[in-house]
Amino acid sequence: MKGIILAGGSATRLYPATICLNKHLLPIYNKPMIYYPLSILMLAGIRDILLISSPRDIGSFKNIFGAGERWGLKFSYAVQENPNGLAEALIIGADFMKNDSVCLILGDNVFFGHGLPALLRKTVRAMKEKGGAYVFASNVQDPERYGIVEFDPKGSAVSIKEKPKKPKSNWAVTGLYFFDSRCRDIARAIKPSGRGELEITSVNEEYLKRGALHVNPIGRGFAWFDAGTHDSFLEASKFIATIETRTGFMVGCIEEIAFANGWITRETLLAMGEALGKTDYGQYIIRAAQNEE
Ligand code: TTP
Repeated sequence: MKGIILAGGSATRLYPATICLNKHLLPIYNKPMIYYPLSILMLAGIRDILLISSPRDIGSFKNIFGAGERWGLKFSYAVQENPNGLAEALIIGADFMKNDSVCLILGDNVFFGHGLPALLRKTVRAMKEKGGAYVFASNVQDPERYGIVEFDPKGSAVSIKEKPKKPKSNWAVTGLYFFDSRCRDIARAIKPSGRGELEITSVNEEYLKRGALHVNPIGRGFAWFDAGTHDSFLEASKFIATIETRTGFMVGCIEEIAFANGWITRETLLAMGEALGKTDYGQYIIRAAQNEE
């Protein structure tokens, strides 16, 4: 399975901070926002990753991640000329995906929850065995902002609507999607919505029509943020700060995950920590490298 991170967009809701700066480079507490979705792909065991961003910003991501080999990853890059919608990622990424399945994640999505790595790996296995589309739904208080799923009494998804005026539930589809290789043709066939975007909800609706959409509600044990507004950005930062301070474990530390996955050696991990000097982030990596468990 391959991974795509979508990190373009216009980020108008974070103006003026993002007039000249890509929002995914802003720090959520102590690390760039983009580390969080990248860490999700890594926890799913995905190493072959396409990063999509705007013509203005793609260079910044190349500077940060290069070919990805420092983390045992393989990074490719592609440009989205204009923010034409989330589903365009599947069209831009079609050649990269070839006939493989893909995990698409939005660059401003932060997930945290006990059992998340197991859930991700279970989803990867299900995709390999059965194909289809796997998405996650989270309970939200402002359903008009999201793609909203309606469930029947048995818990199966029966409809999915983008930014509904009269939401049929409070279950919002999060920015983490697993699709089989059919998603490329499905994305190519959809038409722009009323707001002129190629909606990922249209892709999900097509899978639903084909009886191949699996919606997994993530319950109380999980927190999900789309850090695209000033309030949600601050909320995500405070949440990560609290979790990290209380537990002593970092969320989204890509070096630690690369080591835990066996993709880099202990020596490399130590060198990466030392290169980050006396920052808490660097010291945390050094401690992880020295931990002989
Ligand atoms: P949004 O939050 O829907 O849009 P945005 O980031 O452009 O922000 P705003 O609404 O404030 O102007 O995007 C969700 C994620 O997807 C975010 O990480 C940016 C990314 N994105 C793209 O990369 N390309 C796109 O065409 C769109 C619509 C979003």
